[in-house]
Amino acid sequence: MQETIRKIKQLKEEKNALIIAHNYQAVEVQEIADYRGDSLQLAYMARDAENPIVVFCGVRFMAETAAILNRESRILLPVYDAGCPMADMITAEQLREFKAKHPNSVVVCYVNSSVEVKAESDICCTSSNAVKIISNIPKDQKILFVPDRNLGSWAARQTGREVITWDGYCPTHQWGFSTDDIKRIKKEYPDHTLLAHPECDKEILDEADIVISTGGMIDFAAKNDKAVFATENGLTDYLNHIYPEKSFVTLSPRAICQNMKKTHLTDVLHALETENYHITVDDETAVKAGRCIDRMFEMSK
Ligand code: 13P
Ligand code: SF4
Repeated sequence: MQETIRKIKQLKEEKNALIIAHNYQAVEVQEIADYRGDSLQLAYMARDAENPIVVFCGVRFMAETAAILNRESRILLPVYDAGCPMADMITAEQLREFKAKHPNSVVVCYVNSSVEVKAESDICCTSSNAVKIISNIPKDQKILFVPDRNLGSWAARQTGREVITWDGYCPTHQWGFSTDDIKRIKKEYPDHTLLAHPECDKEILDEADIVISTGGMIDFAAKNDKAVFATENGLTDYLNHIYPEKSFVTLSPRAICQNMKKTHLTDVLHALETENYHITVDDETAVKAGRCIDRMFEMSK
């Protein structure tokens, strides 16, 4: 492992590459990265990067978003088939049919979606700005939200707006936690704050003290000593790694996203050596999808 780390650092230097990693990546991958973050933070980093190569340790929709926002750098996804099952739960064709059933609606798409779905949508959002985006939509507008039913309904409850959601979900957050986990953890850690990601089911969100994005969880952990996290376990693993003196616990050991765990250090090295897998988005789709992401930036200011 030490030799792989040495080679990654050397190649990164030689090629002036930037390595960014999502908060769910394995600890050693997050460690080697220049920056870590949630989906929104990583989108900003990728957009503003001036490096000829950006290695995106995450899943495909994140690298695609980077490729839309940064047309100069070569965006690399270390593992070709690191995808997001939730993003795959709606196609552009299905979205067109959904829109036809609900004419004159504004379509908000979660960033966890394909470029084609983004190109068919009006405004993009992430877990950290969904509430703000929805509340900034004029009151007389009908709102469709794709693909995450949990994030969409949570944002609807927070804003008091009516939102028609697609029936997609994140398998890790949907099936990773149960109310039995909550009962057990509240008994075992009664003085810990329960933070839940809005991709969780309503029955989990109703029990949470705070509902927040992974970036928000990282900020909370910097200022507090005790917490239980209802999100993918890579986040808790990394927090325990950097704050061994604090008490950070996962709500359930089942909450593992297999796709986020596909990236190993050897894949990061392979990406730097071969400059693959190059993620590209054609100009026409990038312009259309870019509009919906730019609207997100404007509306979440
Ligand atoms: P955030 O990091 O934006 O909270 O999103 C979590 C996620 O599911 C990424 O797949
Ligand atoms: Fe997709 Fe869920 Fe994995 Fe995030 S944690 S990449 S939403 S499957």
